[in-house]
Amino acid sequence: MTQQFEGGVALVTGASSGIGKATALAFARAGARVALADVLTEEGQALTEQIRAGGGEAMFIECNVGDVNEVRAMVDTLHAEWGRIDYAFNNAGVEGEQANTADCSEENWNRVININLRGVWACMKYELQRMQHQKSGAIVNCSSIAGEVGFPGIPAYVASKHGVLGLTKNAALEFVGHGIRVNAICPGVIDTPMIHRFSQGEEDIEHQLEYAEPIGRMGRPEEIAEAVLWLCSDKASFVTGHALAADGGWLAK
Ligand SMILES: NC(=O)c1ccc[n+]([C@@H]2O[C@H](COP(=O)([O-])OP(=O)(O)OC[C@H]3O[C@@H](n4cnc5c(N)ncnc54)[C@H](O)[C@@H]3O)[C@@H](O)[C@H]2O)c1
Repeated sequence: MTQQFEGGVALVTGASSGIGKATALAFARAGARVALADVLTEEGQALTEQIRAGGGEAMFIECNVGDVNEVRAMVDTLHAEWGRIDYAFNNAGVEGEQANTADCSEENWNRVININLRGVWACMKYELQRMQHQKSGAIVNCSSIAGEVGFPGIPAYVASKHGVLGLTKNAALEFVGHGIRVNAICPGVIDTPMIHRFSQGEEDIEHQLEYAEPIGRMGRPEEIAEAVLWLCSDKASFVTGHALAADGGWLAK
């Protein structure tokens, strides 16, 4: 039986952990060749080996998405190896420090905006150049429920994720006539290393986050991967410029 993404080339940033890792594995299972990009080299290489051992095709590219030159080199490397780029999940992100708007340091602001927002722009810039040439492609940018509503104490994160939705809508409109779709995913509270860093491992805070989720639990990274693959697939052929919440009902509150 032909697999859904067979013959396709997928790029996943932030692929060494959490949601990116689950999505890279899901793309590989669905038959895509997967390029995994991250700053965590050892973890990314191990996952690449795991995919290959399971019969999939994968490569690891070390890339800090906060550096535009590294992003250009990442897309060039991928293109030189596999000659195309069909799907991109621009997922790499950091939560930053917790402090309200009045106390947020300039350093934290710059770091979070640079990775989460400028990084997504830089990835799209070089992915779109290649996709435009191919006249096809699907991009999913990782926003958050924090891209739709405020979260006191993480102003730079919230601003970066709101910005990702703006960039997504803009690129979707710019490239809708080129056979390229651009969407965003807005995960709710997902059980990944990021959320455990955010709660500083405190069970009380983690329980509060679970109770705050209408569905009564955290999401699993694999549940986000499923939504990303759907957005990339032909089944979503009429969907572009959309922010898809996979959030256990958080935004319905
Ligand atoms: N976990 C959640 O509850 C949640 C909710 C909404 C949105 N998100 C978003 O999902 C995405 C993935 O987060 P996660 O929860 O899987 O966290 P995670 O920390 O498990 O994974 C993030 C990955 O991004 C990589 N990364 C960080 N900075 C990078 C950089 N400059 N260049 C390249 N790679 C970099 C990390 O090394 C890591 O592998 C992020 O954009 C995050 O904001 C997470």
